[in-house]
Amino acid sequence: MLDSGTKLAHTASDRAAAQKTRLEKRMNSLAIDIGRSAIKIAVNSVSTIFPTAVCPAVDLTMSEAAEAAKQDTVEIDGRRYFIGKTAVVQSRTPASEGLRDDWIESDEHRALLKGAYQKARRESGVDEVMLILGLPSRLHGAQKARLAEIASITLGLPLEQIRVVPQPFGAYSALILDENANYASKRDPESESWGVIDVGYYTTDFALMHEGQWTAFAAESVGGTHKAAEYLREKVTHLDLHEAESTLLRKSVKHHGKTIDLVREVDEVAERLANEIIGSASQVLGSRLPRLDGILIAGGGSELVFSAIKKKWDHSHSIPNPRFAVAEGMRRYGVGLLRSIKGE
Ligand SMILES: Nc1ncnc2c1ncn2[C@@H]1O[C@H](COP(=O)(O)OP(=O)(O)OP(=O)(O)O)[C@@H](O)[C@H]1O
Ligand SMILES: [Mg+2]
Repeated sequence: MLDSGTKLAHTASDRAAAQKTRLEKRMNSLAIDIGRSAIKIAVNSVSTIFPTAVCPAVDLTMSEAAEAAKQDTVEIDGRRYFIGKTAVVQSRTPASEGLRDDWIESDEHRALLKGAYQKARRESGVDEVMLILGLPSRLHGAQKARLAEIASITLGLPLEQIRVVPQPFGAYSALILDENANYASKRDPESESWGVIDVGYYTTDFALMHEGQWTAFAAESVGGTHKAAEYLREKVTHLDLHEAESTLLRKSVKHHGKTIDLVREVDEVAERLANEIIGSASQVLGSRLPRLDGILIAGGGSELVFSAIKKKWDHSHSIPNPRFAVAEGMRRYGVGLLRSIKGE
């Protein structure tokens, strides 16, 4: 017979287990991809993007601006910050914080994370979440535990509800899993091998999935679209960096009332960046390259370099909405994870 103390302990632990199951059932997968140009969020069918910008908050007098700013205000350790569009408008100095390897330790990074988390929950209406975050391949091993800890403290979320994956793994998951986290048709991750190239803003990240075994590379750094914009400025000297970046998309610019066509110039710089990516990918993926089932080109810069890389490697694959691939893939990975936790 159980004594009353043991019975009480049982009921308490049964209650805790039941509560945990209830919580797990209500959980949604929420992915936040903190890129150095933009934060991408995916939860259920909601996807949101806002610029990676953060600055100390100030009191705004114009009521409209003040209203918009409210949604973009985050408090970290008693200090208020603007994030996203409001920070772009209010801040005078461009942020380059994201280039430091210890970026995740900064209050600015915590403000972006908290702002993204609040925005995601507000826009999707979800409450309990399994949070999936990413890190560049090169930093994943060294920083994943620390990032989870920072997120847990900043968001008040238990560590069991946080996972940190390499960003290219997110892109790979968007390829290999469908929206409900089942294997996408025609894909067989156990036997296939894929290279992943994530062309971001500051850097291009590489990884390899070899027959179900994941390797993220500490690749020597290759630039992203930011590099292409710099190359374009060497050719078209009247552009500032911001104009050069938008010209990569538009392939033309207005100058003294005329629209100047820059298709050839943009194609040339795109090819230059693509060749650098090809050089680095050849080094890190090496002799495995011809044996791969495919090379996935993801990230916001994917469209810029895809055709040049495809010319070199015919087994290159693009993905719909490549800028969101990391966030959407991380979300799908989280959906699968929750399903296995729930034992479904
Ligand atoms: N079709 C396109 N052509 C050229 N550039 C594009 C296109 N679509 C998006 N971009 C640009 O791609 C860049 C990289 O986007 P992405 O969101 O992948 O970078 P990030 O994740 O913020 O950066 P990082 O991965 O380096 O931290 C952005 O500057 C964006 O303006
Ligand atoms: Mg990125």
